[in-house]
Amino acid sequence: STKLEQIYEGKAKKVYKTDDPELFIVDYKDDATAFNGKKKGTISGKGVINNRVTNFLMEKLEKEAGVPTHFVKELSERETLVKKVTIVPLEVIIRNIAAGSMSKRLGIPEGTVLPIPTLEFSYKNDDLDDPLINDYHALAMGLATREDIDTITTLAFKVNDYLKTFFAGIGIELVDFKLEFGKTTDGTIILADEISPDTCRFWDSKTHEKLDKDRFRRDLGNVEGAYQEILHRLFGE
Ligand code: C5P
Repeated sequence: STKLEQIYEGKAKKVYKTDDPELFIVDYKDDATAFNGKKKGTISGKGVINNRVTNFLMEKLEKEAGVPTHFVKELSERETLVKKVTIVPLEVIIRNIAAGSMSKRLGIPEGTVLPIPTLEFSYKNDDLDDPLINDYHALAMGLATREDIDTITTLAFKVNDYLKTFFAGIGIELVDFKLEFGKTTDGTIILADEISPDTCRFWDSKTHEKLDKDRFRRDLGNVEGAYQEILHRLFGE
């Protein structure tokens, strides 16, 4: 597929049209932002790692867990061919262990194992700082239909069941993560965006060392090393 004009530039990725109306190309950048763009920086090599990690996990989810995804084909170190979707403007967050905004908002100490995995929706809106909403808000604002929300919920827990077990097998606790879903032109809901150290909290099972973007958000140092460690655990490189 030929890369045509850029249609979108986000904080960490650019998206291009292709000569096939049903396919887009995603291009991963090294730019890092946190706190809705208030903190900016670069994580050297991040784009290459997030591209490979996302594609590896999406392929496994598709083949081994039956989760439909936008992944089509890795084109280069930073570029991937994906199915064209319209993104549902919800950030779908699954949590297995309390951390981050959940700990802050609810006063649950970071590291508390939750008795059941928990799902949250945020309304994807930079001006409003992605506020936490429930399914009724999503329906009332016309962000998704009841059917979409039910499909998204089922798929998100399926992703969690699969990834939690998979990461445990390589010595990593999957603390929490954010997913985004999209609608194809025929109306099917599929998993889109990325699954990477930018969008997941990964803790080493033994040492509880943070191996994700929290190292950047909280100025913990060795950010690049953490991203490389995830690549190493997945690919043995
Ligand atoms: O900040 P919070 O605790 O709500 O984040 C929960 C999870 O969602 C974390 O894994 C974080 O990396 C991810 N997240 C994200 N993009 C956002 C907000 C959160 O990937 N805009």
